[in-house]
Amino acid sequence: MKLSVIQGDIAQQNADCIVVNLFEGVSEPEGAADAVDQALGGAIRRLLRSGDFSGKSGSTSLLYSAGALPAERVLLVGLGQAAKFDLQAARKASGAASKALAKHSGIKHAATLVPGADGLDLQDCTQALVEGMLLAAYQPPNYKREAPERNLQAITIVENDAANLARCQEGVRRGEAIAAGVITARDLSNEPPNILFPLEFARRAGVMAAHSGMQLTVLGEEEMGKLNMNILLAVSRGSAHEAQLIILEHAPAGTQDDAPLVLVGKGITFDTGGISIKPSERMEEMKHDMSGAAAVTGAMDAIARLGVQRRVIGVAACVENMPDGNAFRPGDILVGMTGKSAEILSTDAEGRLILADAVAYVARFQPKAVVDLATLTGAIGVALGQQAAGLFSNQDYLEAALLAASKRSSERLWPMPMWEEYSETIKGDMAEVKNSGGRSSGVSSSAKFIEHFTEDYPWAHLDIANVAWTTSEKDALTPKGATGFGVRLLVDLAESY
Ligand code: BES
Ligand code: MN
Ligand code: ZN
Repeated sequence: MKLSVIQGDIAQQNADCIVVNLFEGVSEPEGAADAVDQALGGAIRRLLRSGDFSGKSGSTSLLYSAGALPAERVLLVGLGQAAKFDLQAARKASGAASKALAKHSGIKHAATLVPGADGLDLQDCTQALVEGMLLAAYQPPNYKREAPERNLQAITIVENDAANLARCQEGVRRGEAIAAGVITARDLSNEPPNILFPLEFARRAGVMAAHSGMQLTVLGEEEMGKLNMNILLAVSRGSAHEAQLIILEHAPAGTQDDAPLVLVGKGITFDTGGISIKPSERMEEMKHDMSGAAAVTGAMDAIARLGVQRRVIGVAACVENMPDGNAFRPGDILVGMTGKSAEILSTDAEGRLILADAVAYVARFQPKAVVDLATLTGAIGVALGQQAAGLFSNQDYLEAALLAASKRSSERLWPMPMWEEYSETIKGDMAEVKNSGGRSSGVSSSAKFIEHFTEDYPWAHLDIANVAWTTSEKDALTPKGATGFGVRLLVDLAESY
């Protein structure tokens, strides 16, 4: 999508369609909408009076200008109630506009104003507009012989006041970088598991790093063996695909010696459950079990594109969990990088196992903070539905920073308890810890298991199993399949922490 910003009057734009935003409940269009309405001989007013267009968030209505305007069409887009309008409402309305525009093969080029309201910053609103437009236009990787149609190719953002152009342009730059990161994460997560196995994940991270100038290090099984990462390697033993620890580093000049923010992602490219095999119903969704690693990779992509002035390291721990004659078993006792022992009760509780060695590995960076993202438990969805990811942390400041980033990015987190008593449920009989605490307290005990292997850095764990993908489209911004959850949140954290 080609995005540009120009100074001018929306009513005068010679595009295939101009977009006019309206709040819910207004009967008299104002400003640019009024000018367009007058040119159309009051068509917008009539639509509002008839009740056919409500202005409700996400509602759209297409009008034909029949020569009354340079543009052939006018798309009315509802912004919802003015009093409730915020950046997420701007994203959603732009998403709805993007979807409505894309339906018409005659609309190749659209022009739009930036939706806004009192108290909202123009640059932020422009960024939200761009994020909404691009994320709603997302199309997953295509394996059909015929390529899907892409109608809309260019969007011109029209701003009245020349003094505001630079801020609009900065909003476009930021929105494009962040949407690109979210799309990187969605694409990785949506790819089929026979195509996206650990080596292919590493190859794609390499292509990305080469483009953005990030530093890439990849450890294979031999190197991880030398580091005693035996818990992670045990999960990989039943798979024909080699595990990969993928490390991306963004360190702009002058930040190389700073303590980095470290992001760690669970990258199970397919989770069969291993010997504790899963039921086959909906097992295909387990191709998304690398969504934590995908979010970390997408966030690193966006962070590099934005040129964030911080040192950030992203680690994708990529492993396939399969059963075969060589696979690890329930009952096995493993000793990993930290020297601590873990007893396996279920080979299906594999995410915490690969993270145990990954969070131990990152101690070498002397991190300012470590945040891991993982599709860790089915139980987090029982606790929170699809509305928020679970947030577990051992440090109040990091927890507060993540909650603030969550508010700003509208990627919801909900704090979950980390009381010491939860550790009781995972005390091992023959080893220090066991990898499952049984049916009760499933989410907190899994976080406790990971915490057991962290070193003395501030650490937080996000269980994204309930939000990383959806089985049906949630809203204009959230298509069926991978959501890219976490990218916008992590970019905000990298900039604000
Ligand atoms: N990847 C799954 C978690 C999951 C399940 C995510 C369903 C999304 C939907 C994870 O590896 C897993 O299997 N967890 C088990 C843990 C249990 C064996 C202690 C679970 O949640 O059932
Ligand atoms: Mn599992
Ligand atoms: Zn899993």
